[in-house]
Amino acid sequence: MLPRAVLLSICGCLLLTSAQAFVPAPARSVPPPSSSTALCATYNNVFVAGGSKGVGRLVIDKLLQQGSKVIALVRREDVAEDLNAIEGVTAIVGDAFDQKTVENAMDGCDAAITTLGGSTQDEGTRIDYVGNSNVIESAGILGVQRIVLVTSVGCGSSREAAPEAVFETLKEVLLAKEKAENVLIKYYTNSNWSIVRPGGLKSDPATGNAILTEDNKSIGTIHREDVASLVVQCLESPKTERKILTAIDPSIESAMATSAEVEAFLL
Ligand SMILES: NC(=O)c1ccc[n+]([C@@H]2O[C@H](COP(=O)([O-])OP(=O)(O)OC[C@H]3O[C@@H](n4cnc5c(N)ncnc54)[C@H](OP(=O)(O)O)[C@@H]3O)[C@@H](O)[C@H]2O)c1
Repeated sequence: MLPRAVLLSICGCLLLTSAQAFVPAPARSVPPPSSSTALCATYNNVFVAGGSKGVGRLVIDKLLQQGSKVIALVRREDVAEDLNAIEGVTAIVGDAFDQKTVENAMDGCDAAITTLGGSTQDEGTRIDYVGNSNVIESAGILGVQRIVLVTSVGCGSSREAAPEAVFETLKEVLLAKEKAENVLIKYYTNSNWSIVRPGGLKSDPATGNAILTEDNKSIGTIHREDVASLVVQCLESPKTERKILTAIDPSIESAMATSAEVEAFLL
């Protein structure tokens, strides 16, 4: 059993805000075997759930830079107002707990990204399963074939990457996100989905060193801006279709970073 202080530090690193790292054990990345030659797809109208803040908000910026238009579903009027002031963004106010709201907002889009997470303030009901599954279901109904779901290290096949005590602490969140992953994996076999699992998020500027990897034992701290870049690269790379990828930054020394070499996924 890990001491409480250590456990809290690791949990903070994995799924809360920007906790400090405490053991310098950076992962090393192995460069991909050759440079990518695959054609990238840029989508015209991308639906984003979770775009009010954090990774989702940064994803909106990256999509706009790539020339896509964004349709963002947000809960608050003031957030929608700010987003609607940005050229290329249409923000719709609504709750992702409601499937029809999600479907109406997504109508007309050719791709969908969801970074939904968290719980309601009053009852503490988590959005991680219901909201993400509403995005997936709506995409299915509308025929939106390209979906990128952002979950977390510790979900599904990456469970062993999270130390047991951390997994136990974050179990409810991780299992809810895993349930959403399973909806895609098991029932959307004809869709071009991708799952991106980051480790502990920090809101510092991008390092530009983050990678995606199929190594589901890897874990570490990563900056939200780097995750956002990887999510948009993932969206646009046909090679990531039906792939589950961990987002990791080998240049960051963090409490949970694996010391083994991590092979970068060739986008
Ligand atoms: N924090 C970490 O260390 C960590 C680690 C691994 C994975 N993750 C996951 O990575 C993703 C991005 O994390 P983040 O910390 O950058 O973002 P975040 O702060 O968790 O953002 C979650 C987003 O979901 C939205 N949302 C929640 N409930 C909603 C609802 N009912 N209807 C519509 N929107 C709703 C939030 O909108 P509001 O602004 O209205 O709340 C917000 O835009 C999340 O899924 C998170 O769980 C986080």
